[in-house]
Amino acid sequence: MEIIIKKDALSGSYSAARVVARLIHEKPDAVLGLATGSTPLMLYKELIRLHNEEALDFSRVTTFNLDEYVGLPADHEQSYHRFMWDNLFSQINIKLENVHIPDGMASDIPAFCASYEQAIIDAGGIDLQVLGIGSDGHVGFNEPTSSFASRTRIKTLTRQTVADNARFFDGDESKVPHHCITMGIGTIMDARMNILLAFGQNKAGAVAATVEGPTASIMPASILQYHPAAKMFIDEAAASDLKLGDYYRWVYDNKPDWQKDA
Ligand code: GLP
Repeated sequence: MEIIIKKDALSGSYSAARVVARLIHEKPDAVLGLATGSTPLMLYKELIRLHNEEALDFSRVTTFNLDEYVGLPADHEQSYHRFMWDNLFSQINIKLENVHIPDGMASDIPAFCASYEQAIIDAGGIDLQVLGIGSDGHVGFNEPTSSFASRTRIKTLTRQTVADNARFFDGDESKVPHHCITMGIGTIMDARMNILLAFGQNKAGAVAATVEGPTASIMPASILQYHPAAKMFIDEAAASDLKLGDYYRWVYDNKPDWQKDA
């Protein structure tokens, strides 16, 4: 795993955006895996800016989102459908038919999940997956002890995740759905590249356990230690519990120019 420590969330997001933009330049029909939450918002703002000011072209890009709450219709203000359209898709030239987000209202959830996995395969697999991380180390909504072999499926949120996400539901935990559809850890690991963003002190523990702890399903993101092309963009606060923080900075500072942000 490559650890890229930036001074703040903004510069970390800009670096991550350069990686996404480079992929789209090199492969205009790239398949992106996308995440929700507050963490990728600055990344999405920067991608919108690159689209508006530097003609970054999404017309042939395909996207698959990680997850969605079960029971929220697409137009619900806290659905991840709505999040993605409000914060990214409505402001770039992506084609509606190229956007995939799990359907939280699917009547047959197992069948839907199987079709989602198939759609990823049919698209040629995910080139680059964007990830955030929950304070308990979840990626997508793969809560602690999720199988490392899991595929897209229904999951039950932990009480901690319900509490963490209540801030988006007027602070009312009773409004937060308890179930979600999420890509599995196996699905995420199949992406050809993973970039995980984590900002702020409340992610420091999960970041340290992911990077330097044992690989264990109790810390789902730790599986990324086994991914051949995983990068983590973090700010100083999120890096504060890392034992080898100085080493990661040293590695980054001494990279050949051509390799920076690559
Ligand atoms: C949710 C999402 C995750 C996200 C996490 C962290 O649970 N399902 O994909 O990474 O929240 O959210 P935030 O970025 O707001 O801290």
